Amino acid sequence: MGTLLVKNGTIVTENELFNGDIFIDGETISIIDKEIKVSADRTIDALGNYIFPGGIDAHTHMELPVMGTHSSDDFITGTTAALHGGTTTIIDFANQVRGDDLHSTLQKWHDKAGNRSLCDYGFHISVTDVNEDTISELKNLVEKEGVTSFKTFLAYDAMKLDLGSLERLMIEVKGLGGIITTHTENGKMIDALISKHIQEGKLSTKYHPLTRPNTAESDAAYTLMKLAEKTGCPTYMVHMTSTGAANYLKRAKEKGLNVFGETCPQYLFLDEKMYAHQDFDIASQYIMSPPVRALSDRDGMWKGIKEGTIQVLATDHCPFMLEQKRAGIDDFTKIPNGAPGVEDRLELLYSEGVDQGIIGLQTFVKVTATNPAKLFGLYPKKGVIAVGSDADLVIFDPNEVHQIKCESRNMRVDYNLYEDRIIKGKVKTVLLRGKVAIENNECLLTPGFGNYLKRGLPDFSIS
Ligand code: URP
Ligand code: ZN
Ligand code: ZN
Repeated sequence: MGTLLVKNGTIVTENELFNGDIFIDGETISIIDKEIKVSADRTIDALGNYIFPGGIDAHTHMELPVMGTHSSDDFITGTTAALHGGTTTIIDFANQVRGDDLHSTLQKWHDKAGNRSLCDYGFHISVTDVNEDTISELKNLVEKEGVTSFKTFLAYDAMKLDLGSLERLMIEVKGLGGIITTHTENGKMIDALISKHIQEGKLSTKYHPLTRPNTAESDAAYTLMKLAEKTGCPTYMVHMTSTGAANYLKRAKEKGLNVFGETCPQYLFLDEKMYAHQDFDIASQYIMSPPVRALSDRDGMWKGIKEGTIQVLATDHCPFMLEQKRAGIDDFTKIPNGAPGVEDRLELLYSEGVDQGIIGLQTFVKVTATNPAKLFGLYPKKGVIAVGSDADLVIFDPNEVHQIKCESRNMRVDYNLYEDRIIKGKVKTVLLRGKVAIENNECLLTPGFGNYLKRGLPDFSIS
């Protein structure tokens, strides 16, 4: 591989902001300086642009089996879209089907992603069956296979763990130095509310959020934080939506526990009013779990990000075409849950967070790249602009104004949750391991360029 010089950009890291040049030799960054006079095979002038570390989306679902169908992006289309949006690494979930072992679960996801992913990728494993066999698999997964994070569910019959099993898993994962991530909704509360709504014939989309109230999340968060305290296991709540859950997280943090939170753009930028939209094809786009919330909860998510209680912005990218969503036109419980977003994350957060003065550039870099890299064992290879790190860079024009249109996005889905929104700031050029991945709105990589990342143990030195 050759050399590449990125000149005159404004380099943004978690602690610094400075004008300078970056010299890339092969796949990694070899010099960072105010002015580099070495000649390179290619020079990119980044004057007037920010240079961010390549985004890391710690929560995606490519080609995920759900309710007899699959999320509509696979590892080719979904990772192409990720790169267009400035995300150079994803961490997808390999979901165990009860009865399967964890290694064969991981192999299924390797089969989906290997020779197909365009961006770099890792896997969390979702453990749905805690028994002697699965427990005995964990050591090899952590030490040899590079899977150091294990997802657990407190909702969904096919996925959820009872609290005894969760505690057992947490004890084992702590012993191995890994981290537990949790879908934090109280499944029993939700199941009761769903049954009640079905009995009353309340089956339109507007009832979805009423069956999954914010109290179902805060109740589960309380329980999870208690287990984190009891076991000492590092614990991370995925796709947080509610002020109540954020408060329990904050309290647990104040006790000195290694507990962390993630939220997603849909919980910062969207409004629950959409569920009552008369057009099913619009309302159903927002059917995801947990649901989009009201303003008071959105404010809680922003507060969490600003204070550092919530450390990661991921997407929970899990798109379904409208035709797939229509499976539930007469019954919201049959609509596949999930929404697209892998391509929108950086631009939305920049435009509505940084440009609006709600968060600063350092927070932007932390939540989109540095913090997920640390928590999921990718740092300092990923998530930072530093000598020796992978040359994963986003050249970002903070002044370009554009409008989000589904037709000009690359996700394999026939709507965009932010359609027509005016955005200030645009991903212009993306480098992955020193290769130009995105330029002039085109993806220049081919399927299989993405590497599987064997992840290390979490690094908790995050702010
Ligand atoms: O509705 C959602 N979030 N679907 C994806 C699976 C999950 O719960 O993360
Ligand atoms: Zn979930
Ligand atoms: Zn998810």
